[in-house]
Amino acid sequence: RIPLLIDTDPGVDDALALLMAFADTRHRLLGLTITAGNVGLAHTVANALKLCEVAGVDVPVFPGCPVPLVHPAEDAAYVHGQDGFGDTGYTPAARAAESEHGALAILRLAREHEGRLLLVTLGPLTNLALALRLDPELPARIGRLVVMGGAVTGQGNTSIPAEFNIAFDPEAADVVFRAFPKAEVVDWEAVLRHGLRHADFEAWAAAGDGRATFYEAISRFTRRWSLERRGDRWHSADALAMAAALRPDGIVQAEDRHLAVELEGRLSRGATLVDWQQRTGKPANARIVLAYDQASFEAQVRAALGA
Ligand code: BDR
Ligand code: CA
Repeated sequence: RIPLLIDTDPGVDDALALLMAFADTRHRLLGLTITAGNVGLAHTVANALKLCEVAGVDVPVFPGCPVPLVHPAEDAAYVHGQDGFGDTGYTPAARAAESEHGALAILRLAREHEGRLLLVTLGPLTNLALALRLDPELPARIGRLVVMGGAVTGQGNTSIPAEFNIAFDPEAADVVFRAFPKAEVVDWEAVLRHGLRHADFEAWAAAGDGRATFYEAISRFTRRWSLERRGDRWHSADALAMAAALRPDGIVQAEDRHLAVELEGRLSRGATLVDWQQRTGKPANARIVLAYDQASFEAQVRAALGA
């Protein structure tokens, strides 16, 4: 089985992605490295531990960076709830997090699984950037890197052109995209093409097991938020990225292009600039997933809920 490590800021859509990874049988989940992002680190760590408990999964949870590399950033509690899990008031997990820092865990696990590791990032890239600063040789040790982030033609969800995970820590994203020869990118615009019907989700949640009951509750706040703004489909960014990571055979269309992160810009900090016209002559450092098999995506979501 392929060793899998997930860097995440749970987060409602992170939670669905994690449930998908927990349900997958082709990969061996080594652990979760946690970053601040959707909400602060204390909540994202607590949420990761709780989700593991609910799913009966005993993988180590490594707390990582509590703030972006350089500049402070605003969280996304307005989408995910103040606790990042829809403010249901759940009882905290009995288990505690590891003492090893998330960035160090990335470095250690990449060495232990030299050349084979599938690393999936579902949050701001702070932990991975820090790991790269500690060891610039890291990309050579990683088998595949799949990143949920960016808005590849400039239609963001945090500012006009920027997507949340990149906008939260643009310097970290810059470090990562400069370092990795070919990151696989699932961006916000792909996510918008792969919504889940509210009615379908409600049926799966009702048919599922304890994971579904918990997920239905923690996602209620964000699903209502989405319903009021985007109509009959809601969008689970990290779940789509996880599908592309776990089942790359479901990728229907992808393009290799050069991608750079805007670090300045009065209106465009955090934008991902993709060289669609190949004007720069720079080698493609990103494989951009444009379309995924919707039926396969939905089947993976259903399986994650036990439905
Ligand atoms: C990304 O931002 C976060 O709010 C979500 O968890 C996802 O990782 C989508 O832009
Ligand atoms: Ca996330």
